Amino acid sequence: LIKDIYRQTEKYQDQVITISGWVRTLRASKAFGFIEVNDGSFFKNLQVVFEENLDNFKEISKLTISSSIIVEGKLVLTPGAKQPFEIKATKIEVEGTSDRDYPLQKKRHTFEFLRTIAHLRPRSNTFSAVFRVRSIAAYAIHKFFQERGFVYTHTPIITGSDCEGAGEMFRVSTLDLENLPRNEEGNIDFKKDFFGKETNLTVSGQLEAESYALAFRNVYTFGPTFRAENSNTARHAAEFWMIEPEIAFADLEDDMELAEDMIKYVINYVLENAPEEMEFFNKFIDKGLLERLDNIVSSDFVRVTYTEAIEILKKADAKFEYPVEWGCDLQTEHERYLTEKVYKKPVFVMDYPKDIKAFYMRLNDDGKTVAAADLLVPGVGEIIGGSQREERIDVLEKRIEELGLNKEDYWWYLELRRFGGTKHAGFGLGFERLIMYITGMSNIRDVIPFPRTVKYAEF
Ligand code: 4AD
Ligand code: MG
Repeated sequence: LIKDIYRQTEKYQDQVITISGWVRTLRASKAFGFIEVNDGSFFKNLQVVFEENLDNFKEISKLTISSSIIVEGKLVLTPGAKQPFEIKATKIEVEGTSDRDYPLQKKRHTFEFLRTIAHLRPRSNTFSAVFRVRSIAAYAIHKFFQERGFVYTHTPIITGSDCEGAGEMFRVSTLDLENLPRNEEGNIDFKKDFFGKETNLTVSGQLEAESYALAFRNVYTFGPTFRAENSNTARHAAEFWMIEPEIAFADLEDDMELAEDMIKYVINYVLENAPEEMEFFNKFIDKGLLERLDNIVSSDFVRVTYTEAIEILKKADAKFEYPVEWGCDLQTEHERYLTEKVYKKPVFVMDYPKDIKAFYMRLNDDGKTVAAADLLVPGVGEIIGGSQREERIDVLEKRIEELGLNKEDYWWYLELRRFGGTKHAGFGLGFERLIMYITGMSNIRDVIPFPRTVKYAEF
């Protein structure tokens, strides 16, 4: 594989080797030609030189971009040249040709255009780098938690409860949409549906993760989540992946420490294991990215309370579209001001007003705020939403009622508080937003292979 040749060049030097891959570029003259081949194993290409002594020289000279070939030849070092080595081909077999209308010809394409060919874009440099980093980061997350003894918990995709209580769920149903069964009140009769009740795609695995944390102490989920949010922005997707650790006998402080350790671990792991890709992002996508990431792994994240943040924003020299008032939700512009203008690094904002947060967050002693902590980062905004959970059953029941939620829907969640409840905490990290942060890519559609967003689910 091309990766091995780059990583252990001495081993292959002057050896006859065989590689198989796709033509990325081809230049040919009457007597010889060059092909840059990519075999998918590595971000970089390998240069192949071929000469007219090949019996299929003419055919090879006319090969189109993205044809697949098998090359046999000797690996020779080319000191002083643009590439460190090349293969002098003794044989080139054509596996599959590529039609002339192949859309990824060698020129710059806009990300908008590349989204329309999501099935081909992983063959381009940018997306090859993005999706390899995505894979490496996913592995790093598992490695981080497994090394700390966390149990990987598969929470359900189809669920009967709304974790965030925001009603932003996609309904799962087998009912005949043309002839919906109705009950006596005229409402849709979900008793006649597949599960005998109303069900949805999960917005978060948190509630189920909590029940496993109260058995295994430390658990994490890592899976797809769904939100029917009508937000057509560069950081909202209808289907995205979330990492949700949940830790027992732990409070908000422990929670933030875990989050900070995890983010730094993943960034370090990616920097070490994808240096070529990261170099590429730094050069072509986001200048200064590497310096910023180095800074982040070597300094402490900031911690401010929501109340302090509001004070800072009120005094800000910026004009905000949304006015700032204690009690308001922080908008992207506010998040960006805090992370990019004030602190220039990741910031935990803690203790939000209870009215803008979910029912399960632990009520603080002031009776007005909850033990929540969101992590905001420059360029992206919120990447983590976390909290200490309400373990006091009476307080929790009151919150559920206050928010107009149905207590019966949460019966098992409430039971966790009656059978050996303890203080516990957790958070949700949006995986795509983390990838945006690490790569410098600015649109969520460009860090998930086949994006689903409002009015868009091609492929
Ligand atoms: O802040 P959220 O809604 O928190 C929860 O779901 C909690 N139950 C998590 C927990 O405590 N276990 O979502 C968590 C994170 C956000 O910070 C954001 O990074 C990401 O999930 N996220 C989205 N990412 C992409 N598209 C969307 N529509 C997203 N909504 C949330
Ligand atoms: Mg949130």
